[in-house]
Amino acid sequence: MCGIVGYVGPQSAQNVVVDGLRRLEYRGYDSAGVALVADGKIASAKKEGKLANLEAVLAADPLPTSGTGIGHTRWATHGAPNDVNAHPHLSDSGRVALVHNGIIENFASLRSELEVDGITMTSETDTEVVAHLLGREVDNGADIADALRTVCGRLEGAFTLVAVDAQAPGRVVAARRNSPLVVGLGDGENFLGSDVAAFIEHTRQAVELGQDQMVEITADSWTVTDFAGQPAEATVYHVDWDLSAAQKDGFDWFMRKEIHEQPRALADTLLGRHAEDGSLTLDEIRIPASELRSIQRIVIIGCGTAHYAGMVAKYAIEHWTRIPCEVELASEFRYRDPIVGPQTLVVAISQSGETADTLMAIRYAQEQGSKVLAICNTNGSTIPREADAVIYTHAGPEIGVASTKGFLTQVLACYLLGLYLAQVKNTKFGDEIAAVMAELQTMPDKVQEVLDAQQQVLDLAAEFADNPSVLFLGRHAGYPVALEGALKLKELAYIHAEGFAAGELKHGPIAVIDQDLPVFVVVPPQGRDMLHDKTVSNIQEIRARGAKTIVLAEADDDKVAPYADVMIGLPKVSTLLQPLVATVPLQIFACELATVKGHDVDQPRNLAKSVTVE
Ligand code: M6R
Repeated sequence: MCGIVGYVGPQSAQNVVVDGLRRLEYRGYDSAGVALVADGKIASAKKEGKLANLEAVLAADPLPTSGTGIGHTRWATHGAPNDVNAHPHLSDSGRVALVHNGIIENFASLRSELEVDGITMTSETDTEVVAHLLGREVDNGADIADALRTVCGRLEGAFTLVAVDAQAPGRVVAARRNSPLVVGLGDGENFLGSDVAAFIEHTRQAVELGQDQMVEITADSWTVTDFAGQPAEATVYHVDWDLSAAQKDGFDWFMRKEIHEQPRALADTLLGRHAEDGSLTLDEIRIPASELRSIQRIVIIGCGTAHYAGMVAKYAIEHWTRIPCEVELASEFRYRDPIVGPQTLVVAISQSGETADTLMAIRYAQEQGSKVLAICNTNGSTIPREADAVIYTHAGPEIGVASTKGFLTQVLACYLLGLYLAQVKNTKFGDEIAAVMAELQTMPDKVQEVLDAQQQVLDLAAEFADNPSVLFLGRHAGYPVALEGALKLKELAYIHAEGFAAGELKHGPIAVIDQDLPVFVVVPPQGRDMLHDKTVSNIQEIRARGAKTIVLAEADDDKVAPYADVMIGLPKVSTLLQPLVATVPLQIFACELATVKGHDVDQPRNLAKSVTVE
């Protein structure tokens, strides 16, 4: 979703802002723009398409030098992605420039009000309305910070707003509600960004802003207030990853790099989870054990890939804790009047910690009296900040729009949660928990084994590059893996892909099977006879109808080998942990197939990394 950058300091604001926008490209966008304060005026440029288009405009028609600027990459909501709708938007008099992330829900009535006042809108955006409202305030004598405060009081919806006033050089003001914004603290310079990637090359000191807060930065100061103008608390934190984490490191795609970082990401997420007596510790869980013992039900919410991580979690958590566990799309949750309360633990899974659907769902759950535990990869983001407890995944920044290491570490964090609850509720003996923990410790190496054997999957992707459709099947914990495999392919290769529970095949999907359809099947480990053998039967049914079967199974699985056109061998792991190894070839397949088709793997069309509007 939209990326926002703000800067005040001695450097060229244009350069800092454009570089920051480049680091935010991964969020997804379709136009970009900058505005600077120079010589008592606003100088701005904006252009549809990629940042390179804006840079060409700036090269052809340079803006004056300035140390105060704002910039934006827009992911279109209100109005088509074109030059006019691109941000920044200027007020009627041209004195104020504004960039915005989010949706102003009452923009239609505000727009009518301005039109009655004689203001003509030039764009189709909700943002332009806010620019004019701000302009009206400052033209009437208000200071830009007061103007923003007043205008925020009139807005409904979600927004991060960042503004400059031509008559207030050296100042950038910003406000946030339900949409992300962080402050970067430099030495004699300060920054604003949708996330820390915007300024990570300049500083690793950041400030998280709370809900309904405003900030004003100058080169030497930053001031946080609430919407009433009262000083507000803000937490300064150190960003624990550096610029190299946000670079491709010789890989052609961030996604490919992130797939290969998975062993390290898993190892880092496992670090420090043992107390001296061998028991499992989750320091970030701030809910007392006594309260966790009274939990009668768990509801896991998330969107997209995070939702599939939750589906894997259900199998493990119910098995280990015997606590009934439901998994629900965060985007559906609060609209169906769900039955949750103090004895329900709501687990919200989100890589970014900013997904609007998930954020709204946790607020709803908290209003109903539930405790919320977040599983999140982004320190300081809104969801963990508002949750009652958090388990951080330590995957490092995930830049590729398609989630990979985010998913694997979410699944791992869910296992840790399940084992921790089993320990607290005594539903498993200590040695049983220790045995699973010991197996989890082996997973980074096992994922590495899968990565080392990737050539077979790369060849397969080249072979199937022209296939219009692919089917993915799995049972038990392999079912969400099938769904994730299909999602990755849709996102990156733009081809039809479906994931089904293998047992559902005969209830409908089998009708689409013919000799042209490749079918990936995730086969459970051989130890669980029933699960395994039933899946082998499903593969035979597929083969009988002429489809090509690509089977992901333990490398020495002789029972399934005769029915596999292609066998992708997986390391031996227990059934519940198999998603950690079985997902990886499917990630590689999607990444490679999209590459062969010539698609932009890191920024697939229409997608945004962090979906900050509902
Ligand atoms: O940041 P989140 O984990 O909350 O994001 C949830 C989904 O938007 C995300 O997983 C999306 O489905 C990815 N593009 C999947 O690759």
